[in-house]
Amino acid sequence: MTIKPRKAVIIGAGHVGSHVGSSLVLREVIDELVFIDIDEKKAAAHALDLNDSVSALSTNITVKTGGYNECANADVVVMAVGTQPVPGKKRLQMFDETIEMLQDVVPKLKASGFNGIVVSISNPADIVADYIRKRLGLPESHVFSTGTTLDTCRLKRILSEKTGYNRNSIQAYCMGEHGDSSMVPFSHVSFGGKSFEDMKNDFPDTFGKMDTQEIMACVRQGGFDIVNGKSCTEFGIGLAACEIVKAVLRDEKRVMPVSALLNGQYGQYGVSAGVPCVIGKDGVEEIIEISLTPEEKALFDHSCGVIRGYIEKADNRD
Ligand SMILES: NC(=O)c1ccc[n+]([C@@H]2O[C@H](COP(=O)([O-])OP(=O)(O)OC[C@H]3O[C@@H](n4cnc5c(N)ncnc54)[C@H](O)[C@@H]3O)[C@@H](O)[C@H]2O)c1
Repeated sequence: MTIKPRKAVIIGAGHVGSHVGSSLVLREVIDELVFIDIDEKKAAAHALDLNDSVSALSTNITVKTGGYNECANADVVVMAVGTQPVPGKKRLQMFDETIEMLQDVVPKLKASGFNGIVVSISNPADIVADYIRKRLGLPESHVFSTGTTLDTCRLKRILSEKTGYNRNSIQAYCMGEHGDSSMVPFSHVSFGGKSFEDMKNDFPDTFGKMDTQEIMACVRQGGFDIVNGKSCTEFGIGLAACEIVKAVLRDEKRVMPVSALLNGQYGQYGVSAGVPCVIGKDGVEEIIEISLTPEEKALFDHSCGVIRGYIEKADNRD
């Protein structure tokens, strides 16, 4: 038996790609990491910088730059090409520029013979995952995006700040588009297993005063607040994507709200949207269907409608 080193390739070594790489190395999730970027100088600098940190680890990890041939034997490709966010610019407004980059990247990735799992981050995340999936010809469960994973991190942070409960004791998901139409099924939010509704009834002066509309607005605004201060977001998505890659490489069967192709789940067909999924060595191994109230279902359907409109636009490209 031969033991194969775990290898990840990150395409797009910008703010996001470099931070995913840093998390993968510092958490010792992979054995080999390759950065690919049209800006070869920047990619090489990130690889060298990150390589220095390996000396302080107990694990020996190879970090380098390379060409698309490096994807041939990679276990995971992380797609992080794109442009830095601009204050006020919506994710959907990044559609044209990202598709243009993918028209360059995806044929090269396909030609490499890559046969692993794609974790895509580039925005607009749901549409990009669908675009890549259709063109790579890999099993549909092998290509997905981080979806509402980062939105869910923000949601848990906000709920924790408002209630004082540790984030790890809060069960909550953001679902739908990674963008302005995302929604939260508050009927499934719980604190140590006790539903939000029960908490509101038992603690009217604290939980009872929490405004779900305001919480949603804070979740949606979370990315913009960071972008307004430093013109990118990187730490949160870096670690969130790293956790997804870890769930794949270690076959963790961890439930995470990634953007997966819906084939009838939630009454939706042919659309990629953020839903709780079991992540393991085969990528999206199961889509978990939680029961939504009629109001929540209407919000989720609306979000899927927004994504579907752009998927149709993407289908008409190249
Ligand atoms: N899904 C999420 O939760 C989430 C969170 C944050 C950012 N993002 C998205 O991630 C993407 C990257 O953001 P960023 O801040 O790192 O931008 P960035 O500009 O810092 O990095 C993008 C990198 O892509 C590279 N690139 C562009 N075209 C390329 C090509 N054809 N081939 C190879 N590399 C190419 C650029 O040279 C650059 O280094 C954006 O689409 C952003 O919106 C998504």
